[in-house]
Amino acid sequence: MRYLFFLQLLVSSILLSAQKFDGLAKTPPMGWNSWNKFACNVDEKLIRETADAMASNGMKEAGYEYIVIDDCWQVSRDENGDIVCDPERFPSGMKALADYIHSKGLKFGLYSCAGSKTCEGRPGGRGHEYQDAKMYASWGVDYLKYDFCNTDAQKAEGAYKTMRDALYAAKRPVVFSICEWGSTEPWTWAKNVGHLWRTTSDIMNCWDCKVNWGGMGWTLVMDKNAELGRYAGPGGWNDPDMLQAGNGVLTDVESRSHFTLWSMMAAPLITGNDIRSLTPAIKEILTNKEIIALNQDTLGKQGYRWWTLDGNIELWLKPLSNGDIALCFFNRSSVAASIDFDWKRYFSNLDGKTYNVTGQTRIRDLWLKKELGTTNKNLKATIPAHDVLTIRLGQ
Ligand code: GLA
Repeated sequence: MRYLFFLQLLVSSILLSAQKFDGLAKTPPMGWNSWNKFACNVDEKLIRETADAMASNGMKEAGYEYIVIDDCWQVSRDENGDIVCDPERFPSGMKALADYIHSKGLKFGLYSCAGSKTCEGRPGGRGHEYQDAKMYASWGVDYLKYDFCNTDAQKAEGAYKTMRDALYAAKRPVVFSICEWGSTEPWTWAKNVGHLWRTTSDIMNCWDCKVNWGGMGWTLVMDKNAELGRYAGPGGWNDPDMLQAGNGVLTDVESRSHFTLWSMMAAPLITGNDIRSLTPAIKEILTNKEIIALNQDTLGKQGYRWWTLDGNIELWLKPLSNGDIALCFFNRSSVAASIDFDWKRYFSNLDGKTYNVTGQTRIRDLWLKKELGTTNKNLKATIPAHDVLTIRLGQ
Protein backbone atom coordinates (compact mmCIF):
# COMPACT_ATOMS: atom_id res chain seq x y z
CA MET A 1 0.00 0.00 0.00
CA ARG A 2 2.67 2.38 1.06
CA TYR A 3 4.64 1.72 -2.14
CA LEU A 4 1.53 2.38 -4.16
CA PHE A 5 1.10 5.72 -2.42
CA PHE A 6 4.66 6.75 -3.18
CA LEU A 7 4.34 5.56 -6.73
CA GLN A 8 1.22 7.68 -7.17
CA LEU A 9 3.00 10.65 -5.65
CA LEU A 10 5.93 10.19 -7.98
CA VAL A 11 3.76 9.83 -11.07
CA SER A 12 1.65 12.85 -10.21
CA SER A 13 4.64 15.02 -9.46
CA ILE A 14 6.22 14.03 -12.77
CA LEU A 15 2.98 14.85 -14.56
CA LEU A 16 2.64 18.13 -12.72
CA SER A 17 6.13 19.23 -13.57
CA ALA A 18 5.75 18.32 -17.23
CA GLN A 19 3.91 21.37 -18.34
CA LYS A 20 4.31 24.91 -19.50
CA PHE A 21 2.74 27.91 -17.83
CA ASP A 22 -0.75 28.27 -19.21
CA GLY A 23 -2.58 31.45 -20.00
CA LEU A 24 0.52 33.58 -20.64
CA ALA A 25 0.13 33.99 -24.38
CA LYS A 26 -3.56 33.79 -25.16
CA THR A 27 -2.77 36.32 -27.86
CA PRO A 28 0.62 36.71 -29.58
CA PRO A 29 3.30 38.24 -27.31
CA MET A 30 4.23 41.87 -28.02
CA GLY A 31 7.50 43.52 -27.12
CA TRP A 32 11.01 44.40 -28.19
CA ASN A 33 14.19 42.36 -28.65
CA SER A 34 17.72 43.70 -28.95
CA TRP A 35 19.11 41.39 -31.64
CA ASN A 36 18.00 42.76 -35.02
CA LYS A 37 19.39 46.23 -34.37
CA PHE A 38 22.06 45.86 -31.69
CA ALA A 39 23.33 42.25 -31.95
CA CYS A 40 25.98 41.87 -29.20
CA ASN A 41 26.12 45.57 -28.50
CA VAL A 42 23.81 45.47 -25.47
CA ASP A 43 24.18 47.10 -22.05
CA GLU A 44 21.98 48.22 -19.20
CA LYS A 45 21.83 51.82 -20.39
CA LEU A 46 20.34 50.74 -23.70
CA ILE A 47 17.85 48.45 -21.99
CA ARG A 48 16.74 51.08 -19.48
CA GLU A 49 16.36 53.70 -22.18
CA THR A 50 14.41 51.23 -24.29
CA ALA A 51 12.07 50.55 -21.37
CA ASP A 52 11.66 54.31 -20.84
CA ALA A 53 10.84 54.71 -24.51
CA MET A 54 8.33 51.86 -24.61
CA ALA A 55 6.58 53.17 -21.52
CA SER A 56 6.24 56.69 -22.89
CA ASN A 57 6.11 56.66 -26.70
CA GLY A 58 2.71 55.04 -27.11
CA MET A 59 3.99 51.48 -27.51
CA LYS A 60 3.05 50.30 -24.03
CA GLU A 61 -0.36 51.84 -24.47
CA ALA A 62 -0.70 49.99 -27.78
CA GLY A 63 -0.01 46.67 -26.04
CA TYR A 64 3.77 46.14 -26.10
CA GLU A 65 4.99 44.56 -22.93
CA TYR A 66 8.23 42.54 -23.09
CA ILE A 67 11.76 43.96 -23.19
CA VAL A 68 14.01 41.06 -24.19
CA ILE A 69 17.81 41.06 -24.13
CA ASP A 70 19.06 38.66 -26.78
CA ASP A 71 22.50 37.04 -26.95
CA CYS A 72 25.68 38.40 -25.30
CA TRP A 73 24.49 39.57 -21.88
CA GLN A 74 26.25 36.55 -20.30
CA VAL A 75 30.01 36.06 -20.04
CA SER A 76 30.80 33.03 -17.89
CA ARG A 77 29.77 30.74 -15.06
CA ASP A 78 31.10 31.14 -11.54
CA GLU A 79 32.59 28.42 -9.34
CA ASN A 80 29.08 27.18 -8.52
CA GLY A 81 28.15 27.00 -12.16
CA ASP A 82 25.84 30.01 -11.84
CA ILE A 83 25.49 32.11 -14.95
CA VAL A 84 27.27 35.46 -14.75
CA CYS A 85 26.19 38.55 -16.66
CA ASP A 86 28.75 40.89 -18.19
CA PRO A 87 29.86 43.05 -15.23
CA GLU A 88 31.07 45.85 -17.48
CA ARG A 89 27.94 46.13 -19.56
CA PHE A 90 25.49 45.28 -16.78
CA PRO A 91 27.19 46.60 -13.62
CA SER A 92 23.92 46.84 -11.67
CA GLY A 93 23.08 43.20 -12.41
CA MET A 94 20.01 41.61 -13.91
CA LYS A 95 17.83 41.81 -10.82
CA ALA A 96 18.13 45.61 -10.72
CA LEU A 97 17.41 45.80 -14.44
CA ALA A 98 14.35 43.59 -14.10
CA ASP A 99 13.13 45.70 -11.19
CA TYR A 100 13.53 48.82 -13.28
CA ILE A 101 11.60 47.33 -16.20
CA HIS A 102 8.87 46.12 -13.87
CA SER A 103 8.66 49.59 -12.29
CA LYS A 104 7.67 50.84 -15.75
CA GLY A 105 4.81 48.36 -15.88
CA LEU A 106 6.68 46.22 -18.42
CA LYS A 107 8.06 42.69 -18.41
CA PHE A 108 11.61 41.41 -18.69
CA GLY A 109 12.99 38.78 -21.03
CA LEU A 110 16.34 37.09 -21.53
CA TYR A 111 17.94 34.84 -24.12
CA SER A 112 19.80 31.60 -23.65
CA CYS A 113 20.50 28.50 -25.67
CA ALA A 114 19.88 24.76 -25.34
CA GLY A 115 23.44 23.96 -26.40
CA SER A 116 26.68 24.21 -24.49
CA LYS A 117 27.25 27.66 -25.95
CA THR A 118 24.95 30.31 -27.42
CA CYS A 119 25.16 31.19 -31.11
CA GLU A 120 27.64 33.93 -30.18
CA GLY A 121 29.74 31.54 -28.11
CA ARG A 122 28.56 32.62 -24.66
CA PRO A 123 27.78 29.97 -22.00
CA GLY A 124 24.66 28.01 -22.94
CA GLY A 125 22.08 26.27 -20.79
CA ARG A 126 23.01 22.62 -21.42
CA GLY A 127 23.37 20.78 -18.13
CA HIS A 128 22.44 23.90 -16.16
CA GLU A 129 18.75 24.11 -17.02
CA TYR A 130 17.33 23.89 -13.48
CA GLN A 131 20.08 26.08 -12.06
CA ASP A 132 19.52 28.76 -14.71
CA ALA A 133 15.74 28.64 -14.39
CA LYS A 134 16.07 29.26 -10.65
CA MET A 135 18.43 32.15 -11.28
CA TYR A 136 16.07 33.67 -13.85
CA ALA A 137 13.19 33.36 -11.37
CA SER A 138 15.24 35.09 -8.67
CA TRP A 139 16.03 37.93 -11.08
CA GLY A 140 12.38 38.34 -12.13
CA VAL A 141 12.58 37.06 -15.69
CA ASP A 142 9.18 36.84 -17.43
CA TYR A 143 10.20 35.62 -20.90
CA LEU A 144 12.92 33.31 -22.15
CA LYS A 145 14.04 32.98 -25.75
CA TYR A 146 15.90 29.68 -26.03
CA ASP A 147 18.14 29.11 -29.03
CA PHE A 148 19.62 25.93 -30.51
CA CYS A 149 23.28 26.50 -31.41
CA ASN A 150 26.14 24.18 -30.34
CA THR A 151 23.79 21.33 -29.53
CA ASP A 152 25.82 18.41 -30.97
CA ALA A 153 23.59 15.36 -30.76
CA GLN A 154 20.91 16.94 -28.56
CA LYS A 155 17.36 16.37 -29.76
CA ALA A 156 15.38 19.60 -29.94
CA GLU A 157 12.13 18.29 -28.51
CA GLY A 158 13.78 16.74 -25.49
CA ALA A 159 16.05 19.73 -24.89
CA TYR A 160 13.15 22.17 -24.93
CA LYS A 161 11.06 19.93 -22.68
CA THR A 162 13.88 19.87 -20.16
CA MET A 163 14.00 23.65 -20.08
CA ARG A 164 10.22 23.89 -19.94
CA ASP A 165 10.19 21.61 -16.90
CA ALA A 166 13.01 23.58 -15.29
CA LEU A 167 11.13 26.83 -15.72
CA TYR A 168 7.98 25.29 -14.33
CA ALA A 169 9.84 23.90 -11.35
CA ALA A 170 11.26 27.38 -10.63
CA LYS A 171 7.65 28.53 -10.22
CA ARG A 172 7.90 31.94 -11.85
CA PRO A 173 5.61 32.17 -14.90
CA VAL A 174 7.75 32.59 -18.00
CA VAL A 175 6.78 32.86 -21.64
CA PHE A 176 8.94 30.26 -23.34
CA SER A 177 10.09 31.17 -26.85
CA ILE A 178 11.46 28.24 -28.82
CA CYS A 179 14.12 29.16 -31.37
CA GLU A 180 15.34 26.13 -33.34
CA TRP A 181 14.47 27.87 -36.64
CA GLY A 182 11.80 25.35 -37.66
CA SER A 183 14.42 22.63 -38.18
CA THR A 184 12.52 19.87 -36.37
CA GLU A 185 9.04 21.17 -37.22
CA PRO A 186 8.28 22.42 -33.70
CA TRP A 187 4.73 23.24 -34.76
CA THR A 188 4.11 19.49 -34.57
CA TRP A 189 5.44 19.05 -31.00
CA ALA A 190 5.76 22.39 -29.25
CA LYS A 191 2.17 23.25 -28.35
CA ASN A 192 2.65 21.99 -24.81
CA VAL A 193 6.28 22.97 -24.59
CA GLY A 194 6.49 26.66 -25.48
CA HIS A 195 4.28 29.64 -26.20
CA LEU A 196 5.86 30.47 -29.56
CA TRP A 197 8.21 28.69 -31.89
CA ARG A 198 10.35 30.06 -34.67
CA THR A 199 9.30 28.65 -38.03
CA THR A 200 12.25 29.78 -40.14
CA SER A 201 15.86 30.79 -40.22
CA ASP A 202 16.73 34.36 -39.22
CA ILE A 203 14.90 37.29 -40.77
CA MET A 204 17.24 39.64 -42.61
CA ASN A 205 16.86 43.37 -42.87
CA CYS A 206 15.58 43.41 -46.45
CA TRP A 207 12.59 42.73 -48.65
CA ASP A 208 13.57 39.39 -50.22
CA CYS A 209 17.35 38.92 -49.99
CA LYS A 210 18.88 35.56 -49.10
CA VAL A 211 22.15 34.72 -47.39
CA ASN A 212 23.94 31.42 -47.79
CA TRP A 213 23.43 30.20 -44.21
CA GLY A 214 19.66 30.49 -44.60
CA GLY A 215 18.75 33.98 -43.44
CA MET A 216 16.23 35.73 -45.66
CA GLY A 217 14.16 38.84 -46.15
CA TRP A 218 10.75 39.19 -44.59
CA THR A 219 8.62 38.30 -47.63
CA LEU A 220 10.41 34.94 -47.91
CA VAL A 221 10.02 34.30 -44.18
CA MET A 222 6.35 35.09 -44.62
CA ASP A 223 5.97 32.52 -47.40
CA LYS A 224 7.27 29.73 -45.17
CA ASN A 225 5.30 30.79 -42.13
CA ALA A 226 2.11 31.14 -44.17
CA GLU A 227 1.97 27.38 -44.71
CA LEU A 228 1.65 26.62 -41.00
CA GLY A 229 -1.49 28.46 -39.97
CA ARG A 230 -3.33 25.41 -38.75
CA TYR A 231 -0.81 24.82 -35.98
CA ALA A 232 -1.17 28.25 -34.36
CA GLY A 233 -3.73 29.40 -31.84
CA PRO A 234 -4.21 30.83 -28.35
CA GLY A 235 -1.27 29.78 -26.19
CA GLY A 236 1.00 28.58 -29.01
CA TRP A 237 2.07 30.72 -31.96
CA ASN A 238 4.09 30.35 -35.13
CA ASP A 239 6.97 32.82 -34.83
CA PRO A 240 8.29 34.17 -38.14
CA ASP A 241 10.96 36.09 -36.18
CA MET A 242 11.31 39.63 -34.92
CA LEU A 243 10.30 42.66 -36.93
CA GLN A 244 12.74 44.54 -39.12
CA ALA A 245 10.36 47.50 -39.54
CA GLY A 246 12.12 50.79 -38.87
CA ASN A 247 15.61 49.34 -39.19
CA GLY A 248 16.67 51.64 -41.97
CA VAL A 249 16.61 49.42 -45.06
CA LEU A 250 12.94 48.80 -45.69
CA THR A 251 11.05 51.85 -46.88
CA ASP A 252 8.19 53.09 -44.71
CA VAL A 253 5.78 51.45 -47.14
CA GLU A 254 7.63 48.12 -46.84
CA SER A 255 7.77 48.43 -43.06
CA ARG A 256 4.04 49.00 -43.04
CA SER A 257 3.41 45.93 -45.20
CA HIS A 258 5.73 43.84 -43.02
CA PHE A 259 3.92 44.95 -39.85
CA THR A 260 0.53 44.33 -41.44
CA LEU A 261 1.38 40.83 -42.63
CA TRP A 262 2.83 39.91 -39.23
CA SER A 263 -0.41 41.14 -37.69
CA MET A 264 -2.49 39.19 -40.19
CA MET A 265 -0.47 36.03 -39.46
CA ALA A 266 -1.03 36.35 -35.70
CA ALA A 267 2.75 36.48 -35.35
CA PRO A 268 4.38 37.67 -32.14
CA LEU A 269 4.93 41.42 -32.57
CA ILE A 270 8.46 41.70 -31.26
CA THR A 271 9.96 44.91 -32.59
CA GLY A 272 13.64 44.82 -33.47
CA ASN A 273 14.54 48.45 -34.13
CA ASP A 274 15.79 51.30 -31.96
CA ILE A 275 12.55 52.39 -30.33
CA ARG A 276 14.28 55.26 -28.51
CA SER A 277 14.17 57.26 -31.71
CA LEU A 278 11.16 56.43 -33.83
CA THR A 279 10.40 58.49 -36.90
CA PRO A 280 6.78 59.66 -36.98
CA ALA A 281 6.05 57.20 -39.79
CA ILE A 282 7.47 54.17 -37.96
CA LYS A 283 5.79 55.19 -34.74
CA GLU A 284 2.47 55.37 -36.53
CA ILE A 285 3.07 51.92 -38.01
CA LEU A 286 4.11 50.19 -34.79
CA THR A 287 1.28 51.70 -32.75
CA ASN A 288 -1.65 51.42 -35.14
CA LYS A 289 -4.21 50.03 -32.74
CA GLU A 290 -6.62 48.87 -35.41
CA ILE A 291 -3.94 46.76 -37.05
CA ILE A 292 -2.73 45.49 -33.67
CA ALA A 293 -6.32 44.53 -32.89
CA LEU A 294 -6.19 42.07 -35.79
CA ASN A 295 -3.05 40.52 -34.35
CA GLN A 296 -4.40 40.40 -30.81
CA ASP A 297 -7.85 39.12 -31.76
CA THR A 298 -8.90 36.49 -29.24
CA LEU A 299 -10.02 33.98 -31.86
CA GLY A 300 -6.31 33.56 -32.55
CA LYS A 301 -6.65 32.44 -36.18
CA GLN A 302 -3.57 32.87 -38.30
CA GLY A 303 -4.57 34.78 -41.43
CA TYR A 304 -3.89 33.13 -44.76
CA ARG A 305 -3.34 33.91 -48.40
CA TRP A 306 -6.78 33.51 -49.85
CA TRP A 307 -6.42 34.53 -53.50
CA THR A 308 -3.82 35.93 -55.79
CA LEU A 309 -5.41 38.64 -57.92
CA ASP A 310 -4.21 39.95 -61.26
CA GLY A 311 -1.16 42.14 -61.10
CA ASN A 312 0.57 40.24 -58.32
CA ILE A 313 -1.76 41.29 -55.56
CA GLU A 314 -2.09 38.74 -52.80
CA LEU A 315 -5.33 38.82 -50.91
CA TRP A 316 -5.00 37.72 -47.29
CA LEU A 317 -7.91 36.93 -45.00
CA LYS A 318 -8.13 36.69 -41.21
CA PRO A 319 -11.40 35.81 -39.48
CA LEU A 320 -12.00 37.69 -36.23
CA SER A 321 -13.74 36.79 -32.99
CA ASN A 322 -16.77 39.06 -33.42
CA GLY A 323 -17.51 37.72 -36.89
CA ASP A 324 -15.70 40.54 -38.69
CA ILE A 325 -13.18 39.68 -41.38
CA ALA A 326 -9.84 41.37 -41.98
CA LEU A 327 -8.64 41.54 -45.58
CA CYS A 328 -5.26 42.66 -46.73
CA PHE A 329 -4.51 43.35 -50.40
CA PHE A 330 -0.75 43.08 -50.63
CA ASN A 331 0.91 44.39 -53.78
CA ARG A 332 4.05 42.34 -53.92
CA SER A 333 5.14 43.66 -57.28
CA SER A 334 7.44 46.58 -57.89
CA VAL A 335 4.85 48.63 -59.76
CA ALA A 336 1.55 50.11 -58.63
CA ALA A 337 -1.48 47.89 -59.26
CA SER A 338 -5.18 48.61 -59.40
CA ILE A 339 -8.05 46.61 -58.04
CA ASP A 340 -11.69 46.65 -59.01
CA PHE A 341 -12.90 44.16 -56.49
CA ASP A 342 -16.32 42.64 -56.99
CA TRP A 343 -17.52 41.48 -53.58
CA LYS A 344 -20.15 39.19 -55.07
CA ARG A 345 -17.57 37.17 -56.88
CA TYR A 346 -15.46 36.41 -53.82
CA PHE A 347 -18.13 36.22 -51.13
CA SER A 348 -20.64 33.74 -52.61
CA ASN A 349 -22.86 36.37 -54.09
CA LEU A 350 -23.01 38.08 -50.71
CA ASP A 351 -25.36 35.40 -49.38
CA GLY A 352 -24.26 36.24 -45.81
CA LYS A 353 -24.02 32.53 -44.97
CA THR A 354 -20.82 31.21 -46.48
CA TYR A 355 -19.11 34.31 -45.09
CA ASN A 356 -20.51 36.87 -42.74
CA VAL A 357 -20.63 39.37 -45.58
CA THR A 358 -23.70 40.82 -47.29
CA GLY A 359 -24.34 43.85 -49.51
CA GLN A 360 -24.60 45.98 -46.37
CA THR A 361 -21.31 44.99 -44.78
CA ARG A 362 -19.23 48.01 -43.88
CA ILE A 363 -15.65 48.47 -44.98
CA ARG A 364 -13.08 50.27 -42.88
CA ASP A 365 -9.58 51.11 -44.11
CA LEU A 366 -7.30 50.44 -41.14
CA TRP A 367 -4.38 52.52 -42.38
CA LEU A 368 -6.39 55.50 -43.59
CA LYS A 369 -8.58 54.99 -40.48
CA LYS A 370 -11.57 55.76 -42.61
CA GLU A 371 -14.88 54.17 -43.63
CA LEU A 372 -14.96 53.19 -47.28
CA GLY A 373 -18.70 52.54 -47.65
CA THR A 374 -20.23 49.10 -48.00
CA THR A 375 -19.83 45.98 -50.08
CA ASN A 376 -22.75 46.89 -52.32
CA LYS A 377 -20.35 48.27 -54.89
CA ASN A 378 -16.93 47.27 -56.15
CA LEU A 379 -13.90 48.36 -54.19
CA LYS A 380 -11.66 50.34 -56.50
CA ALA A 381 -8.20 51.37 -55.49
CA THR A 382 -4.64 51.74 -56.66
CA ILE A 383 -2.09 50.10 -54.41
CA PRO A 384 1.47 51.40 -54.71
CA ALA A 385 4.34 48.95 -55.18
CA HIS A 386 5.03 46.85 -52.05
CA ASP A 387 2.13 48.48 -50.23
CA VAL A 388 -1.00 47.09 -48.60
CA LEU A 389 -4.64 48.02 -48.51
CA THR A 390 -5.96 46.65 -45.24
CA ILE A 391 -9.63 46.64 -44.42
CA ARG A 392 -11.98 45.32 -41.83
CA LEU A 393 -15.38 44.06 -42.93
CA GLY A 394 -18.09 44.24 -40.33
CA GLN A 395 -21.76 44.80 -39.71
C1 GLA B 1 20.21 32.90 -33.63
C2 GLA B 1 18.77 33.35 -33.51
C3 GLA B 1 18.70 34.87 -33.59
C4 GLA B 1 19.57 35.48 -32.50
C5 GLA B 1 21.00 34.96 -32.61
C6 GLA B 1 21.83 35.38 -31.41
O1 GLA B 1 20.71 33.14 -34.91
O2 GLA B 1 17.98 32.78 -34.51
O3 GLA B 1 17.37 35.31 -33.48
O4 GLA B 1 19.02 35.17 -31.25
O5 GLA B 1 21.03 33.54 -32.67
O6 GLA B 1 23.11 34.84 -31.44
